[in-house]
Amino acid sequence: MTKHETKKRGQFVTFEGGEGTGKSTQVKRLASSLEAIGTDCHITREPGGTQGAEDIRRLLVEGAVERWDPASELLLHNAARVEHLAKTVRPALDAGVWVLCDRFTDSTMAYQGHGHGLDTTMVANLHWLLYGSFKPDLTLILDLKVNDALARTQSRNASETRYERMNQSFHDRVRLGFLEIAKAEPARCVVVDASGDIEEVERRIFEITREKLNQIQ
Ligand code: TMP
Repeated sequence: MTKHETKKRGQFVTFEGGEGTGKSTQVKRLASSLEAIGTDCHITREPGGTQGAEDIRRLLVEGAVERWDPASELLLHNAARVEHLAKTVRPALDAGVWVLCDRFTDSTMAYQGHGHGLDTTMVANLHWLLYGSFKPDLTLILDLKVNDALARTQSRNASETRYERMNQSFHDRVRLGFLEIAKAEPARCVVVDASGDIEEVERRIFEITREKLNQIQ
């Protein structure tokens, strides 16, 4: 590349959905498939993705369910996100790397807005204040019945269970929240049925992403 050529900005792909829908596995599989066709990828997650944001993560995912007021949770998730965006996501995208992120702002709308019942306009306004028009290029929302999804979470990191321990109606509201987000933004969001086997879901996700890749190339 000559010094006058600038590398094309990377694409920002986010994975969303409730607990146990298989996001983390699918993020890794999509990254491998994209790397195999020559696309540089960086895998990251929220809350997390920088040292400071990982420190905040521990405050959020461990300990008693009632540990935080919902508004404090909203602010902590966004404090972690501001760090993550400035220090990890934007620099990678600017360098032409695709960023595959396990959760982003839709999780805040679904969990703190729909799940905890914070005013969704207030959540959206805060996101606008902090991130302006910055949005993922593609959001894959993995959807699974709450009972089936929670049954899958048993084998996960045993200390990060604060959200899993929230009640069934909370998780039902989160699931409906994600579906509402998908309905409101069909150009960005695709709902993926996560009930199939891992390979089937992986194929579907790769197809959706390749279609998107074709649109932008
Ligand atoms: P993970 O288990 O998918 O890694 O995510 C950690 C937990 O944090 C998960 O239970 C969902 C929750 N969460 C929110 O409540 N709001 C947010 O904005 C984000 C990013 C995650």
